[in-house]
Amino acid sequence: MIIKPIVKGVVARNAHPTGCKQAIINQINYVKAEKPIVNGAKKVLILGASSGFGLASRISLAFGGASADTIGVSFERGPSEKGIGTAGWYNNIFFREEAEKQGLIAKNFVGDAFSPQTREQVIDYIKSEFGGKLDLVIYSLATGVRPDPVTGELWRSSIKTIGEPVTGPTINIETDTMEQMTVGTATDEEIDATEKVMGGDDWASWIEILSEADVLDKGCKTLAYSYIGAKSTYPIYHQGTLGRAKTHLHATGDMLNNKLAKIGGTAHVSVCKALVTKASVYIPAFSPYILALYKVMKEKGLHEGCIEQMQRLFAQRVYGDKSAIPVDNQRLIRIDDWELDAGVQSEVDKLIAKIAPDNFALVGDYQGYKTDFMQLNGFELPGVDYQARVDFDSLCQLQP
Ligand code: NAI
Ligand code: NA
Repeated sequence: MIIKPIVKGVVARNAHPTGCKQAIINQINYVKAEKPIVNGAKKVLILGASSGFGLASRISLAFGGASADTIGVSFERGPSEKGIGTAGWYNNIFFREEAEKQGLIAKNFVGDAFSPQTREQVIDYIKSEFGGKLDLVIYSLATGVRPDPVTGELWRSSIKTIGEPVTGPTINIETDTMEQMTVGTATDEEIDATEKVMGGDDWASWIEILSEADVLDKGCKTLAYSYIGAKSTYPIYHQGTLGRAKTHLHATGDMLNNKLAKIGGTAHVSVCKALVTKASVYIPAFSPYILALYKVMKEKGLHEGCIEQMQRLFAQRVYGDKSAIPVDNQRLIRIDDWELDAGVQSEVDKLIAKIAPDNFALVGDYQGYKTDFMQLNGFELPGVDYQARVDFDSLCQLQP
């Protein structure tokens, strides 16, 4: 079969396996050529490993100098009568193949990271086949639902404001149009539920259970990813429901840091740059900011994708010759420093003021936004022959 992209709104309904493989190889080649990670982690568990920042972390730690063995947990779908499956499914497989070629362990668990069964399987594997200890745990899940571990009832996150509603334009990738929309205000219940889903609770429970199982090595680090962003986006993000959840995540980082001190370990939250991922295109009224940011950062030669962010994070902040990880006055790692540069933001503000439904593709970097989105799903990668037939049966033979 020949696979053509199917996009509905801001959701990709299929993926191109050959393109996903190419995207993995491109990221591997990038980190190999960069400043290497020195004294990096060797045994890493990544929760949310199949795309975005989690996948980039995995590639960076395996190929960017540390030569880490990795365990990746993700929630993805393989090929079936329903379709080709998700990009993350193929990312897991092609990452593992490349890592194994280098003699590295790359174990994939495809399942629900919130479930007790997944935790049990991961811990059994660490003990029986992974050498028994981890020296880094990365928490990079992005999801809209989480079951209450006690009742099993689902909490659902809401991406809403707190206080006043906000009206702003948002991109529809399917139709290449920009539409006005209003982001409504959250109820207290919605604020709480979003905090349960995207806050630090589940990160803490993973660290707790790994610690009880005694699989955290002396000096073990843990990291989670956050976003704060520029003042212009505060009403939608930082001061909205997602920002509230991130505040909870930051507090969890401090709590875990105290806990891990007993084994000489640390917990940190790294605040990252706004980027196009499966998760971020979902945030309403946020796309004009990304369009403007991409345009300005590319013009200034400061643009980074997930892989550039993660290689810089590990090589220059988390590992290396420093005696301590550099943090701000809230103990956060700021790898969003180039995004928040005053010169960048003053240009971004000017562009956002101009962006409208009839000019967004000219004023902002819509081309870059859309290409990133397509490439996340294995489409539009230079060098890939998209006319070549893909054999569905051989895809079905591939195992995580
Ligand atoms: P993503 O959508 O690319 O990756 C999410 C990962 O979580 C995938 O591997 C997915 O399979 C996994 N996942 C989701 N639900 C799961 C479940 N129930 N069980 C197991 N795995 C599950 O998202 P992205 O953007 O990389 O987000 C990761 C983190 O980075 C989030 O905390 C996000 O807030 C943060 N971040 C994202 C930014 C952005 O602009 N994209 C900016 C700064 C921080
Ligand atoms: Na991720």
